[in-house]
Amino acid sequence: MSSDQFHLNFSLMSPGHYRAAWRLADADPHAYLDVEHYVRLAKLAEEAGIDAVFQGDSPALGPEIAAGTSGGLDGFTLLAVIAGATERIGLLPTVSTTYSTPYSLARRFQSLDHLTKGRAALNVVTTGNPAAAANFGVSAHPDRDARYRRAHEFLEVITRLWEAWEPGAIIADKATGQFGDPSRIHAIDHHGEFFDVAGPLPVPTSPQVRPVISQAGETPAGLELAARYADVVFAAGHTVAKARASRDDIRARARAHGRDADSIKYSLGLIVLVGTDEEDARRRHDELNATLPPIEHIVSAVLSALGLPADAFGPDDVIRLQDLPTEPNLNAFSIGMYNNTRAVLAEGARTLRELVAHTAGIGTHRLVVGSPERIADDLESWWRQGAADGFTVMFADTRVDLERFATLVVPILKERGLFHREYPEGTLRDRLGLPVPGLQSAGRRLAVSPA
Ligand SMILES: Cc1cc2nc3c(=O)[nH]c(=O)nc-3n(C[C@H](O)[C@H](O)[C@H](O)COP(=O)(O)O)c2cc1C
Repeated sequence: MSSDQFHLNFSLMSPGHYRAAWRLADADPHAYLDVEHYVRLAKLAEEAGIDAVFQGDSPALGPEIAAGTSGGLDGFTLLAVIAGATERIGLLPTVSTTYSTPYSLARRFQSLDHLTKGRAALNVVTTGNPAAAANFGVSAHPDRDARYRRAHEFLEVITRLWEAWEPGAIIADKATGQFGDPSRIHAIDHHGEFFDVAGPLPVPTSPQVRPVISQAGETPAGLELAARYADVVFAAGHTVAKARASRDDIRARARAHGRDADSIKYSLGLIVLVGTDEEDARRRHDELNATLPPIEHIVSAVLSALGLPADAFGPDDVIRLQDLPTEPNLNAFSIGMYNNTRAVLAEGARTLRELVAHTAGIGTHRLVVGSPERIADDLESWWRQGAADGFTVMFADTRVDLERFATLVVPILKERGLFHREYPEGTLRDRLGLPVPGLQSAGRRLAVSPA
């Protein structure tokens, strides 16, 4: 990726960010479990030259299952299957550092990186949903501080595991019969607050050395984690001012860690609803809005996410910035996302109904509705204003909007020179213009004794 172009990742979340899009007349309610549905989407994305396909993570079923999907397929498994049906596109599942262990996760991603010739990536979260704890034998969801301390140690362990084999560790000399050189394969001997890991992995260094690490979470602790380890930050941004300030912040933090600010890519999430023209976009927007549960059913959940009492406002009452608590709502799924609501209200008061409509009903990312030109203009304008290095594009109704974005919006972006025309050569890391980290050689000891 040259610095005068942006990257694009596609979310496969199905049926879409309108979770009840399964209700539309021509939708198959079970498509979110169907391999053919996902392979079709991934191939469309690959034909358009998209950098990576992405899947979020929900390690607990939520009450929203009554009206639509709640989570769904495990992202790693889904994208490993897609890997076999594609050749160039990157694979970016979300994983939890709170509810997985570093050795097994490092092994799975290094394996995926080999098997896909350098297309593996992982989006690291600390998990926003407290209900996950009960599924993993944990008495209570750890607080943010503890989650991020664990995330730091987790990333230190996996990156050291990935780099524990020196170049040349596999000799494969048919004449002498020597295959591996144990003196070049090192233990990591990690002992920390959360993990004890001897290492090394049984898997040699993979094509990218480090699969691409993305991080989602925007409290200062999350941004510090990203500044230290991440190649990509997946962020939510509802106003240009908020997105630009967050991007500047992460770049400054990366510099403070001795990194080149351009070595960390700020990937801004947005939800698109692509009309064939403005009229079609409006019609589909109305159709999708009609699938949402009545706003009265979600008022108390939205107010609680904002840290307000359940009966503080009705759907059409106007909320101003000063109505929100001054301290961030520590119980919010993500403080980053909570701060976005503050940023929207800072630009003008809104009713609860308008706030919900702004994010396709689920309070996460910004929704953009319009013709292909309008959506291309939106991306170009945000990028030119320094709000992003690229975009994680999510879809109102993924079955329809992913195809339309790939076939109607991407050609406009290519025409304008904003997005590559062909896949550049190399691994996903090369394509995103990310440096290959150097091997850490200090403090190693021999892990495997020569026979
Ligand atoms: C853009 C974005 C995407 C996220 N995606 C997920 C996800 O897929 N699964 C999940 O459990 N948490 C997700 N989170 C929340 C993270 O788990 C996050 O690490 C945690 O809640 C703290 O977020 P915060 O640092 O913004 O407060 C996301 C957060 C952001 C900002």
